[in-house]
Amino acid sequence: MKMKRTHTCGELTAEAVDAEVALSGWIGSKRDHGGMLFIDLKDRYGITQVVFDPQRDGSLYAEGKELKPESVISIRGAVQRRPEGNVNPDRKTGEIEVVVEEVELLNRSETPPFEIVDDCGASEELRMKYRYLDLRRDVMRENMVFRHRVYQSMRRYLSGQGFIEVETPTLIKSTPEGARDYLVPSRKFAGRFFALPQSPQIFKQLLMIAGFDKYFQIARCYRDEDIRADRQPEFTQLDVEMSFVDEDDVMAMNEGLLKFLMKDLLNVEVGTPFKRLPFDEAIGKYGLDAPAIRFGMALVDVSDVCADAGFKVFQSIVASGGIVKGINAKGASNYSRRQLDELTAYVGEYGAKGLVWFKVESEEGADVLKSPTAKFFDAAHQGRIIERMSAEAGDLLLFVADKPEVASTAVGRLRVHLARQLDLIPGDTFEFCWVTEFPMFEFNEEFGCLAARHHPFTSPTEGTLDDLEKEPLRVRARAYDLVLNGVEIAGGSIRINTPELQRRVFRALGTGEEEADEKFGFLIEALKYGAPPHGGIAYGFDRFVAILRGIDRIRDVIAFPKTTTAQCLLSGAPAAVDEKQLKELKLKIIRDV
Ligand code: AMO
Ligand code: AMP
Repeated sequence: MKMKRTHTCGELTAEAVDAEVALSGWIGSKRDHGGMLFIDLKDRYGITQVVFDPQRDGSLYAEGKELKPESVISIRGAVQRRPEGNVNPDRKTGEIEVVVEEVELLNRSETPPFEIVDDCGASEELRMKYRYLDLRRDVMRENMVFRHRVYQSMRRYLSGQGFIEVETPTLIKSTPEGARDYLVPSRKFAGRFFALPQSPQIFKQLLMIAGFDKYFQIARCYRDEDIRADRQPEFTQLDVEMSFVDEDDVMAMNEGLLKFLMKDLLNVEVGTPFKRLPFDEAIGKYGLDAPAIRFGMALVDVSDVCADAGFKVFQSIVASGGIVKGINAKGASNYSRRQLDELTAYVGEYGAKGLVWFKVESEEGADVLKSPTAKFFDAAHQGRIIERMSAEAGDLLLFVADKPEVASTAVGRLRVHLARQLDLIPGDTFEFCWVTEFPMFEFNEEFGCLAARHHPFTSPTEGTLDDLEKEPLRVRARAYDLVLNGVEIAGGSIRINTPELQRRVFRALGTGEEEADEKFGFLIEALKYGAPPHGGIAYGFDRFVAILRGIDRIRDVIAFPKTTTAQCLLSGAPAAVDEKQLKELKLKIIRDV
């Protein structure tokens, strides 16, 4: 490299006119106008137009014409003011251009597999395979720079509040967060495995026992679970833990953090304290434990009305302990049959066996329900439904009957889906809310046993402690989730801090004494040595960044993400390993299972 850059490509303005400068960067667009060659030279900081003038130097001009897009070059030349009419007000460097006096090709580029522009039209697979080119695009670079700012803001705030950053190990004994572990075989101890952490949960609790009363970490977590738009097999958490606190302290600290972050990152003022919604209310009104509360269309339970109406499907579901839940899509009675079929298919994805719809119409001065199902509801029942749903002519009412969880989830999802279609969701607003009073356990259908809803280190509430042995499904947890615009961005709890209670919870989960000792003996032991009351939270860092950038898939805010099948298309991981490596680990691959 002969020339060292004096400036970046995003730096020069009219103040630099006549200065002799050197720039390095990649070749963006190339244009030949009236015999003059214009190249957009780009780097991380911006774009500067450089000019090859055949009148000044014919061979330099010829050299310029040969340069291929995305090749990397250095140039030297003088800054000149652009002629009137050629000024580009959208660029910081738009008033000037650099007349090239010397050029050096640092490295040529082959024709890239897609054009390096925001609207590149390439498939996500191709973008992931050539991620280094994808990251050259403005939108991706801006995502990464924004992500960097989020790390720095978090560190600045938390450090200012007396939190210290501690790294915890990633070759560990498994921490249960409800997903499958990624395992790493040990060479020294053949047949034994490390697990990659699903979160730093146990270690941060140990740090509290060690007396570090305010901890944070920007930590990598690994979970082998089904991947969706907002899930990756390895993802990042902002992980926080505090001692001598209760729920209110943790929530207040986080509200302070978010107020700071939103102002610092987006110049947005958010009001605190955030709204708190008990879990039962969230499910009741919105059907989901991560409710979108920026718009209405709350869910309404009409089980009692349907219990004695003439529609047998609903009647029998209610009689067997199910519920009927619905929403009123205001003014949507113009939905076509095709649109209604689409909504029916949509709720089907969430397990609903059907969708009953009614259009509300005015007939001889009275509002009535219209649909193929309406004939099963007499005038009195129709009236009760219309009243319960606060419906009027022009509205569309939609109902699902099923087991409570299925009906709530399906209608809850439908509510958000419809709100998008009907454009009810305000753009550019940030609505935070806490969801509290979660059930401690849930029944895991797959394994036919109880599972911790949050994790087994979460403390049950004082008032429901007695149900632990008698009726565990009634136990409530001292857990809280933070929801932003209908996405769970963080979750945490006040922890168990005595070995006795920790053992009781393991027992309730059906973990035998021996198994508990084998898996978590070190934690139970630690709880014996003056474990302070403590609690904390962890943010899905990638989700938080994505929402702030207005993106709904976290892959676009991760430099090198994995596909939905947990593969790295760039490197080809996971990949086979040498026979020799397997031998050292005393592992054998069974190919035909
Ligand atoms: P939890 O399991 O709720 O809590 O995780 C915290 C937050 O991490 C995000 N998240 C994910 N993001 C991307 N990809 C994934 N696969 C993924 N899984 C979870 C979510 C979630 O809210 N140790 C506890 C925290 C605590 O109790 O302090 C924990 O990990 O946004
Ligand atoms: P069927 O009796 O199965 O033909 O259903 C009559 C209507 O009720 C159809 O429009 C179905 O979509 C709807 N339906 C059936 N089961 C349910 C359910 N569990 N919840 C809501 N709608 C249902």
